[in-house]
Amino acid sequence: MTPALTLEGVSINFGGIRALEGVSCEVPDGQLRGIIGPNGSGKTTLLNVISRIYPVSGGSIRLFDDDITRWPNHAVARHGVMRTYQRVALVNQLTVLENVMLGLHATRPQSLLDIAFRTSGYRRVERESVDRARETLEFVGIEDLADRKGDELSGGQMRLVEIARAVVSRPRVLLLDEPAAGLSLVRIDEVSELIRRINGELGVTVILVEHVLNLVMSLCERISVLVSGQLLVESGTPSEVQEDPRVREAYLGQARARSRQAGGGEGTAHDEGEAADARA
Ligand SMILES: Nc1ncnc2c1ncn2[C@@H]1O[C@H](COP(=O)(O)OP(=O)(O)O)[C@@H](O)[C@H]1O
Ligand SMILES: [Mg+2]
Repeated sequence: MTPALTLEGVSINFGGIRALEGVSCEVPDGQLRGIIGPNGSGKTTLLNVISRIYPVSGGSIRLFDDDITRWPNHAVARHGVMRTYQRVALVNQLTVLENVMLGLHATRPQSLLDIAFRTSGYRRVERESVDRARETLEFVGIEDLADRKGDELSGGQMRLVEIARAVVSRPRVLLLDEPAAGLSLVRIDEVSELIRRINGELGVTVILVEHVLNLVMSLCERISVLVSGQLLVESGTPSEVQEDPRVREAYLGQARARSRQAGGGEGTAHDEGEAADARA
């Protein structure tokens, strides 16, 4: 079966920094793939090159049968790749329902004439959009938030709305950038269960970039490990990754470097968390 995503030798430079170097991997259709790696290893950049926000310096990216390496960002979205961001970006002036509807506009652009004259076609599409957005809010379990404004939500609620916006168009591939960042343990469980249902019930291929290693380990069938822009592990099971001494060293090495920079023997709580996660 054709893989959902195929990366071959993907590289990208920022000035003198080589953020990704020769990254090759395949993600089968329907898989829930985790991507882990220390801070600055290139995880977000990888999502940015897949969603075609950044042009690659070398290599190729395929989405099912299409070579999307040079496609514009909106074309990739229209062909079924949706994403969330490390920093949640909702439109505060819009309601939750309207924010979720934005996810449909990304994939079904309407002409300015249709919008300006509110043609019957436009009104029909708009009604369908409202229905789809409501269904998605129900799927995510936040239909009671439909009329709230973006800035009235808690961090955890914002994450759920952002994920709803990314799945309302029923993407083929969903890219999630640290969806558990900054959430309490209870909220992490909610997000985790939602990701599992998006993959299992909707059949969406999911690429989960995440710093909370326990989440990735419990959720993902396969995990890729990025270190300094290169794939240290292309695709391992959670136990293979956990037992790989190179992976532990990459995480522990970063925690040690930071604690040296901080000038003391103790790392920050965050560093300690990473080191503990790597051992977990
Ligand atoms: N737009 C950019 N301009 C310059 N450097 C960037 C840019 N985006 C990422 N980088 C650099 O690329 C490397 C990888 O960053 P990133 O992908 O954000 O890492 P991660 O998400 O794994 O923490 C870092 O060294 C970062 O500073
Ligand atoms: Mg990142």
